Amino acid sequence: MPLLEVDGLTTRFRTERGVVQAVDNVSFDLEEGETLAIVGESGSGKSVTAMSVLGLIPRPPGEITAGRVMFEGRDLLELSDEEMQEVRGDRIAMIFQEPMSSLNPALTIGLQVGEPLNRHRKMSWTESLKGAVGLLRKVQIPDPASRLQAYPHQFSGGMRQRVMIAMALACQPKLIIADEPTTALDVTVQAQILELLKNLTREFGSAMILITHDLGVVARYADRVCVMYAGRIVESGTAADIYGDPRHPYTLGLMASIPRLDEDTQRRLVPIEGQPPNLAALPPGCSFAPRCRYVTDRCRSERPALEAIAGRHMKACFANVSNRV
Ligand SMILES: Nc1ncnc2c1ncn2[C@@H]1O[C@H](COP(=O)(O)OP(=O)(O)O)[C@@H](O)[C@H]1O
Ligand SMILES: [Mg+2]
Repeated sequence: MPLLEVDGLTTRFRTERGVVQAVDNVSFDLEEGETLAIVGESGSGKSVTAMSVLGLIPRPPGEITAGRVMFEGRDLLELSDEEMQEVRGDRIAMIFQEPMSSLNPALTIGLQVGEPLNRHRKMSWTESLKGAVGLLRKVQIPDPASRLQAYPHQFSGGMRQRVMIAMALACQPKLIIADEPTTALDVTVQAQILELLKNLTREFGSAMILITHDLGVVARYADRVCVMYAGRIVESGTAADIYGDPRHPYTLGLMASIPRLDEDTQRRLVPIEGQPPNLAALPPGCSFAPRCRYVTDRCRSERPALEAIAGRHMKACFANVSNRV
């Protein structure tokens, strides 16, 4: 049985501009210890997917109108707020893009990293702070014992993200959801943090959902990849499927717009033309149709379902496109 099974998840927001269909019938699963990347442009519904799994959708304006999120034998969508608070930070931990807004500026690093141990593991504060030193050492913060009394603003962006990782790992969660964990960091620090995350999730045996707009760098740390567009998964497969044999025109477009480290020749990068659709007024057929080079009449009227190509490689597209010749 998979560790996490998301089935038909559908999340909407009622806004002044109408009903925003942020996540539409999204299904994926995750095995123990596996890393799944969810990739897509800004506004494609990645964070709303994560927030739905974590029970953090603000109601109103948000509402989960359909779906199941099975985790360790329970449907998380049916848990009370109190039950979800027990799950979050313990069985499922999260890491967000901007550590400055997730860390409390008024509390010391020690108190924040020790908090999950104190709260979920019922350790005394002395024990929790000892645990915090060990965790800070794990994320390679130098001289961790002396940093317990420091405040978040005394750390660099990369160091704050390491603190967030330490907090997330505190209770050895089965699942970590990392939402654009390195987006605010420069490229070198980004690579260090991703390496660290990869190594520590492996050591702790945690599965990870790695959310990113960056198919180029970040998604390479994943075993499997889901590509999202306008609230739906348009292609999914192993990292080898998505990088080696992308089949959805949107994925092909993303691939063409990223720099490749393994190419000597300076290839011209081609951005995908056009804008993502308004999620409050989605076109009736394929949401990508207005931007697609392979569009046919059928695509404008009928919505392609996510269907298997081979094995676990799936795409939602009527056309038969491929990079292969
Ligand atoms: N609290 C909210 N109220 C209204 N709309 C929201 C809210 N949160 C997210 N949305 C909308 O949901 C859509 C998906 O957003 P999001 O999941 O944050 O995208 P991303 O893929 O960049 O993480 C966007 O159109 C966004 O405006
Ligand atoms: Mg987001």
